[in-house]
Amino acid sequence: TPDFRGQITLDGPSGTGKSSVARAAATRLGAAYLDTGAMYRAATVAVLDAGADPEDAAAVATVVAAARIEVGTAADTEVVRVDGVDVAVRIRGAEVTRAVSAVSAVPAVRRRLVDQQRALVAAADAVVVEGRDIGTVVLPDATLKIYLTAAPEARAQRRAAQLGISDPAEVAALAVDLRRRDQYDSSRADSPLRPAADAVIVDSTELDREGVVDRVVELARSAVGAR
Ligand code: DC
Repeated sequence: TPDFRGQITLDGPSGTGKSSVARAAATRLGAAYLDTGAMYRAATVAVLDAGADPEDAAAVATVVAAARIEVGTAADTEVVRVDGVDVAVRIRGAEVTRAVSAVSAVPAVRRRLVDQQRALVAAADAVVVEGRDIGTVVLPDATLKIYLTAAPEARAQRRAAQLGISDPAEVAALAVDLRRRDQYDSSRADSPLRPAADAVIVDSTELDREGVVDRVVELARSAVGAR
């Protein structure tokens, strides 16, 4: 029998190592994995390719309503398509990263993607769902809610290592950009970034990736035992 049945939400700002933790925890628990950030990024690709202004909410809503966005739920392979085209690499690029906060702030975009997220989750016995509003909005009745956080400097360092950047001025610029995105994501009117009242807060500042994964797996096993 699997270690875990149910839904684990993993929310928090960027640069906490959330994606790699979510994938690794899903693999260890034999659960499916859903990266909701990849869905907002895919919607952003559709907006950019249509030549729409990411800040024009009405135009964004029209483009995203017509786009076919597909994401996989296997922890070991990443599948992201827009209208049948593989965009798994493109969604991680700077152009998409710059525009995604504006696209994800549009309520019609959120409604559409949240419906799709709930349908994908309903199809899985066990799933780890990663995002910003999963515990607060998408799955308010999840089995276990985790909010992963870390000091901004630690998050900037981690992002720099991923990008192969070591120049202190560039690392400092990354920290500024992280704060700007956090501010934007936490202050938007629709589904701001914040921990659910019943979320367990995990601070990864002093933990390595394996340490955080161990903690998530331990929380998952005790959440099921407690039912
Ligand atoms: O986790 P990420 O960096 O791939 O997320 C990309 C953007 O999408 C980020 O600016 C926040 C937004 N997002 C969101 O608004 N709600 C989610 N559930 C997931 C991501």
